[in-house]
Amino acid sequence: MLRPMKETTAKKRTWAEPYKIKMVELLRMTTREERLEAIRGAGYNTFLTRSRDVYIDLLTDSGTSAMSDRQWAGMMLGDEAYSGSENFYNLESVVQEYYGYKYLVPTHQGRGAEHLMSQILIKDGDHVPGNMYFTTTRLHQELAGGKFVDVIVDEAHDSASHFPFKGNVDLAKLDALVQEVGADRVPYLSLEGNVNMAGGQPFSMANLRELRAYCDKHGIPIMLDATRTIENAWFIREREEGYADKSVREILREICDMTDGCTMSAKKDALVNIGGFFCCNDDDVFRKAQNLVVVYEGLHTYGGLAGRDMEAMAQGIREATTEEHMAARVGQVYYLGRKLEDAGIPIVEPIGSHAIFIDARRFLPHIDQDDYPAQALAAEFFIEAGIRTMERGNVSAGRDPVTGENRHPKLELVRLTIPRRVYTQAHMDVVAEAVADVYARRDEIRGLKMVYEPEYLRFFQARFEPLS
Ligand code: F0G
Repeated sequence: MLRPMKETTAKKRTWAEPYKIKMVELLRMTTREERLEAIRGAGYNTFLTRSRDVYIDLLTDSGTSAMSDRQWAGMMLGDEAYSGSENFYNLESVVQEYYGYKYLVPTHQGRGAEHLMSQILIKDGDHVPGNMYFTTTRLHQELAGGKFVDVIVDEAHDSASHFPFKGNVDLAKLDALVQEVGADRVPYLSLEGNVNMAGGQPFSMANLRELRAYCDKHGIPIMLDATRTIENAWFIREREEGYADKSVREILREICDMTDGCTMSAKKDALVNIGGFFCCNDDDVFRKAQNLVVVYEGLHTYGGLAGRDMEAMAQGIREATTEEHMAARVGQVYYLGRKLEDAGIPIVEPIGSHAIFIDARRFLPHIDQDDYPAQALAAEFFIEAGIRTMERGNVSAGRDPVTGENRHPKLELVRLTIPRRVYTQAHMDVVAEAVADVYARRDEIRGLKMVYEPEYLRFFQARFEPLS
């Protein structure tokens, strides 16, 4: 039995920040005319705008965290040696302690780890089941000859469902795939913590336990996308029976101990501006990863990172797993989410940990999905108040490699992603007001047509023009 969704954190004042501000970064204020010119110049793609034109940057929570005084102090301890840097050994012991895997291979960021893992584990024609796709993860699976198969629960595709564990895997879907293609064509189950594309939604420990039993029976490893798994651990504590008295650290270890390895973009949970890693427990997989990393990233004791980056990451992991940090992190996101709900804005429920996702289909019902409503809405938030957000819908989903058609995902979303430890409550108020102002004039908003489409991960560089 799940406990009902608690009205936690944000309603009380308990989420107040466990830090104070030592240095500030000045922002430039712009006029509406300047922003209109900027978004036109960027082909109505927020990824192509310049950050000097942005007032509140909610493009991503990736690499945008504010580091602590201790992390900056750690930067000064950078041991910039080509091999055997002291910072590598420190990071290795922290990752072993907090995540619990036997082996660590550092990479420059998450997709570097995905690349290694996909090349090592996937054979041509394999099927890789996962709890919803992530853009880079799926592309690396495809480039290695695999086919991604979505096995997330149906609730994840319904933005209005309040199901508390929308990140869960549907065992019947997984089993249907295994029966169809055979367990030997399933190299691993790709399991993401706090599923990004579903709105930052967690899986439950009960689901993971069932998955472990099923995968053991069929000899299928479980590889975790650990990018936001500390945040997933927080939600398990908040929502799952039997976890109220466990620490985030303990829950994180319990998750990792039930999986066979992970890829990690440390640019999220781990509070650094760059970095990632691959972990595993298998000797053979480790040896292959250690060998492949020198081809694509750098020697196996730095993987494309400076020594100082690894030091900041080790300290970031320690800070990110504290209760105070997580309360403030999730509390701030809930604060913004509740303000938007109160203003009647259609958002993905329940509120996730890293972002508020606005449902562009319900916000702009008059725009056809092939006229990219979420892309158009992201451009409007920028024009309205210099708030930079990201499309997570038809543009991000890309084309089906077989049919060449747009994939038309059920979720057509704009992500308002909150960087960690960066913005204040007043900034969140500005965001909520701006979104409400755009909502009030939503009938005037038109769709877009794509005028330039790059081959890979098109959302990053595609260009658009407004439909007349
Ligand atoms: N996995 C997940 C769940 C992610 O969200 C990301 C990145 C990656 C892997 C890849 O990691 O960027 O370090 O190479 N997400 C960013 C975002 C880009 O904005 O959601 P990376």
